[in-house]
Amino acid sequence: MIKLALFSGDGIGKEVAGEAEKVLRFIFDVNSIGYEIEGGLVGGVSYDAYKKPITDEVLKIAKEADAIIFGAVGGPKWETLPIELRPEKALLTLRYDLELYANLRPVKVYKELIDASPLKAGVVSGTDMLIVRELTGGIYFGTPRGVSDIGNGNKKGINTLSYTTKEIERIAKIAFEISKKRKKRVLSVDKANVLEATELWRNVVHDVSKNYPDVELSDMYIDNCSMQLIKQPRSFDVIVTTNMFGDILSDEASMISGSIGMLPSASLNGKKGMYEPIHGSAPDIAGQGKANPLAAILSVAMMLRYSFDMDNLAGDLERAVENVIKQGYRTQDIMTGSGLKPVSTSKMGDAVLHELKNIFKSYEKNEV
Ligand code: IPM
Ligand code: MG
Repeated sequence: MIKLALFSGDGIGKEVAGEAEKVLRFIFDVNSIGYEIEGGLVGGVSYDAYKKPITDEVLKIAKEADAIIFGAVGGPKWETLPIELRPEKALLTLRYDLELYANLRPVKVYKELIDASPLKAGVVSGTDMLIVRELTGGIYFGTPRGVSDIGNGNKKGINTLSYTTKEIERIAKIAFEISKKRKKRVLSVDKANVLEATELWRNVVHDVSKNYPDVELSDMYIDNCSMQLIKQPRSFDVIVTTNMFGDILSDEASMISGSIGMLPSASLNGKKGMYEPIHGSAPDIAGQGKANPLAAILSVAMMLRYSFDMDNLAGDLERAVENVIKQGYRTQDIMTGSGLKPVSTSKMGDAVLHELKNIFKSYEKNEV
């Protein structure tokens, strides 16, 4: 019996996670895969109910689950709370307590959506990269941290960027392993010309690379990388980088694909994983059926692949998404012109279900 946790969170998180759940239930039911799903409040909705962004009960559900589907957290209502109580803390706690150190963020361009990108079609077409972001270390979690009074009305804010050899080794290993199934090229991104912690990063990644003689390793500074990403996105394959650099680069890279509403992610520790769209809670469009559920639905595909080794079903789901895009179904964020079919969040989910049904039916026919 597969144990799943579903934390939809705030804003459009609820809407997109709902569609992900719909698709997931369909896939498991049709294929007679036993599962149970347990829900829980995270983020602002948890704060409203319990005065904390995540409760011990919800953390327990997360720890006991084989995989977690996560929607999004945050919103203007909670922005002025102390940092420890803000919705984002729920996400950071889940990542840290479950030691989900490897964050995979694939960026792929769909031919039909090229015009949704603010970049020229000739630049973005053919882009297919994977950002491997370290997720439980670096400046996000380093100590000392905080703001202290240093007298005379002066204050000092501190965050610490630190990495250990072990932390770098394990994330580098993930990047090299995954690259073996791709183009066998890894780019490590750092700021080794200025920051010692990332000089260590570079050296350790090079040490790990000795175990992967077939994989080509190169390095780039973060500033140059953010430029090259826009200049020649096609040239990238696997990018491995620190927590904060990965945060920034993945938002930048989302614009290559046209919409952040298309990008799924997986946060892994071995087979255990949390799967979430990389977009946030988008309070401006929440509750209106405008959100694009495809990133959340594609996160389910990543879950099938990385937590349950169901590569075929993951492929079927990805193909269903490709087909609905080919058929012209568009939420507002990926609406690129006339002659297309504008749909709401739930209608997009329905379109994916419909395609999945067709795909599964085509297998039945072949069997007879
Ligand atoms: C992300 C988000 C989070 C992060 C926030 C919501 C804490 O931006 O997943 O990229 O900074 O990691
Ligand atoms: Mg981010």
